[in-house]
Parts: sequence; structure tokens; C-alpha cells
Amino acid sequence: MKKNTAPNIVPAGGLPAIKKKTVPKFVPAGGIGKKLKKTAIVSAVYFIKSMTEKELKEIKEEVLNCKKCSLYEERVENRFYPVIGEGNHQAKIMFVGEAPGLQEAKTGRPFCGAAGKILDELLESVGIKREEVYIANLLKCRPPENRDPQPEEIKACTPYLERQIEIIKPEIICPLGRYSMNFLMERFGLGNQIEGISKIHGRLFESKNLFQKIYIIPFYHPAVATYNPNMKKILGEDFKILERFK
Ligand code: URA
Ligand code: SF4
Repeated sequence: MKKNTAPNIVPAGGLPAIKKKTVPKFVPAGGIGKKLKKTAIVSAVYFIKSMTEKELKEIKEEVLNCKKCSLYEERVENRFYPVIGEGNHQAKIMFVGEAPGLQEAKTGRPFCGAAGKILDELLESVGIKREEVYIANLLKCRPPENRDPQPEEIKACTPYLERQIEIIKPEIICPLGRYSMNFLMERFGLGNQIEGISKIHGRLFESKNLFQKIYIIPFYHPAVATYNPNMKKILGEDFKILERFK
């Protein structure tokens, strides 16, 4: 025989009334599902954003302490900042310059000197706000007297840029100048299409990456326009291609 397990003591006020299971009389088609879906998407976006922030912060910490190439000595001696990158962490368009100039090394901000003024004008001419894009460089520390980046410096420093690209996941990468053009085209499997920048500036290349489609559009470095007005015109024409990605 089954043991009687009913409680001996009935709380003052009697046993609570058994709550009736409330079944909604009418569930709008897709209604509840839609709401749940929205909540899930919002949480996922929040999670991705906080991961992005965390990973970019890790890069920043590493670069601030980086001694992987001799440009580190130059940076410390002159009390310069490395220029890590700046802009929208969810940017669709990413610009990649060469290396910080004097003004950039003094402030830690990319393209804030004369070349930056040209870049700002170019962006404005196609209706893109600087805050919408992300701007980084091939090298994070300034080469003395703005000399060309050396192969060993590019090799040492570009893993940071590669990680920035992986985290931000831009759809379009615009190398500014031939050094970033050569590196990025090689990196995205377009090595066999590399030609002189005077031939392929402003042209759109599609990377045939298996998992992700990415466009590379090389431009002349904006610094060339600071001493050659004709170059500014060419850059202005080339930048118009970005209007279709706004
Ligand atoms: N030139 C570059 O290539 N990058 C900068 O950030 C500034 C000038
Ligand atoms: Fe490190 Fe790059 Fe600076 Fe060289 S240029 S010290 S690799 S951050």
C-alpha cells in the first residue's frame, strides 16, 4: 500500500490554491518566436562587440610593449607613441597606411598630419565619415625620417594588422601606398595580380578566400597629394569607387 505522504500540518490560511495553467488563447503567427529571436540577436551582437573590444585591447597592450623590431628603440628614445589604429570597430571599410609620420608618433593617432588632412578631404568628398571607417598602418612605430619600411619590420609588425583585420572583419580594405598594397594583395591571395601602383590604383580586386569575400582597392598614398595637386585629382577620382559601398 502506498504511504500517505500528505503533510500533517496545513499552513495557516489553508493550502495555496492550485494555480490554473494559463494557456494563451491566441498566439500570433511567429509572434513569440520573433521576440525570442530578437533577444537572441541582441545578445549575440552584444557578445561579439565585447569580444571585439577585448581582442583589440589585447593588441593595444602588446603593441605598447612591443620590442619585435628595431623601430622600438626609435620610439622609446623619442618618447613617441606607437600608432595602433583608430575608428569604428565594426567598420565596413578599412584603410591601411604605411607607418606613422612625426605628427602621428607624437599623438598616437593615425593620419592626423598633412596626409591625414588629405585623407579627411577625400572621405568627405564621397560622403564617408571618418568615424565610420577604421584606419590602421602596416607598421605601428615610426621609421626614422619617414624612411621606407624594411622587409624585417614588415615581417615583425604585420601580425598585428592581420589580427586587426580578423577582428574587425571589414568588407573592403583600402591599402594606401605601394607597401601596404603589396602586403595586403599578397596576404589575400592576389599576389599574381600585383602590378605597379600607378597601374592598379583605384581598381577593385576580389579575394577568392573560401570563407569570406573581401575586396581590396589600392589607392595612392595621400601624402603624394601634399606636394602634387594632380595626384589629389587622381585620388579624388579613385575614391569615387567607395560611394557604392556606403
Ligand atoms: N602616413 C601613413 O602611412 N600613416 C599615417 O598614419 C600617417 C601618415
Ligand atoms: Fe613592434 Fe611593430 Fe613597433 Fe616593430 S614597428 S617595435 S614590430 S610594434
